[in-house]
Amino acid sequence: MSTTFVKEMRSSGNGLLVRISVIAAIGGLLFGYDTGVISGALLFIKSDLNANTFEQQAIVAVLLLGAMFGALISAYIADKLSRKWTKVISGSVYVIGALGCAFSVNAEMLIGFRFLLGLSVGTASFVAPLYISEVSPPRVRGGLVSFNQLAITTGILVAYIVNFALKGVTDEWRWMLGVAAIPGAVLAVGMLTVPHTPRWLAMQGREDEARDVLEDLRENDDDTDVDDELKDIEEENEREKKTRFGELFTGRLRPMLLVGLVLAIAQQFVGVNTVIYYAPTILSDTGLGNAAALAQTVAVGVTNVVFTIIAVLLLDRLGRRVLLITGTIGLLVALVVLGIYFSSTTLQDSYGWVALAGLLLFIASFAVGLGPVFWLMISEIFPIGMRSKAMAICTIANWGANFLVAQTFLSLSNAISREGVFFLYAALAVLSIAFFSWKVPETKGKPLEEIQQEVA
Ligand code: BGC
Repeated sequence: MSTTFVKEMRSSGNGLLVRISVIAAIGGLLFGYDTGVISGALLFIKSDLNANTFEQQAIVAVLLLGAMFGALISAYIADKLSRKWTKVISGSVYVIGALGCAFSVNAEMLIGFRFLLGLSVGTASFVAPLYISEVSPPRVRGGLVSFNQLAITTGILVAYIVNFALKGVTDEWRWMLGVAAIPGAVLAVGMLTVPHTPRWLAMQGREDEARDVLEDLRENDDDTDVDDELKDIEEENEREKKTRFGELFTGRLRPMLLVGLVLAIAQQFVGVNTVIYYAPTILSDTGLGNAAALAQTVAVGVTNVVFTIIAVLLLDRLGRRVLLITGTIGLLVALVVLGIYFSSTTLQDSYGWVALAGLLLFIASFAVGLGPVFWLMISEIFPIGMRSKAMAICTIANWGANFLVAQTFLSLSNAISREGVFFLYAALAVLSIAFFSWKVPETKGKPLEEIQQEVA
């Protein structure tokens, strides 16, 4: 498939840019791996560590809380210490967290190390897109930043496969949680080899270094003029020096924060992680049997990766808005299909494939739309001086909404039935589509500095 993204990457011939984007995106792999691994590991942890129901829930949920704290702390350190060092720290903390989990001797210890892991995951979840967006040229920024979402989905798939492969091995859950130390170490060491972002350097008043980095990044790139790019960054910097934090909530930056927050919450409120966490349960309830349900869960994971690749290829060609809106319409259709399926006993008795088709449509639609577009947009719409703080706020909202949906899915299913839950998510998808059409700006191909002037 020859698309703008592939052509542009080839013609710029810039291996450095691809290499550093891939390294930065390993943060996404850690995020995804953890999302996918815990439900499988929990089955064994339960009996091995004698964890009661409260402890089991805490083992899963404490990571989400840790991620919220991680995002909060890294808003500060990403500005103070740099994006690069924040990611080195995040990778190192992840190694300690993963090994700590693997060697836990009781549920309390495991809960403590899962919190530590959460700090790292929350940090990586937004500093990866932040870093990549600040080094990318506008023409390919959508695809490069979405390497991060591709890494998330790959991490989820790897986790499904690891869970499957390690069944029957002694101490399986310790291996499942411990192997994540390897990508953590690759992230920490890999980030030592990449440059600071030119935008962060300029923010620190280190213009000469910013120019050197930009020259390396734009080598062989005839379409970008380093002097112009640097001038835009410096002008934006000057303007932003006068911006106060409070303006995010009251002043001219409020509309951007609203867009970021709605995207953050909508991304979770359509129920994506109920599918990621509960796909085997949903599928085995369709009468498929456990083995088939597990195999089809892998199909959900593969679909997620494949459609994320499609998004990487299309985001810089079709734009963010069209993928976001079309993807969310697809989500809506899938949710209605799942709702109808679970309300009809005839369908459930004779047409089990409808549930699988609904789940695959759901995940494919998420993967081309809300999945990548949320993380991409929040790395684009905020001005440099506020970028890390505003991204952290949106990230906290995203993890908070994730926590809320995960905690309520099963009890909501009991209260209003499973079809009721899918119809509820469908109603939220309708509201999301309306908001996106009305308020979300198109950011394709524009320099970060230009977007900020337009949106403000
Ligand atoms: C979301 C995660 C989700 C994943 C699924 C990410 O963009 O933030 O909550 O598990 O996509 O692919």
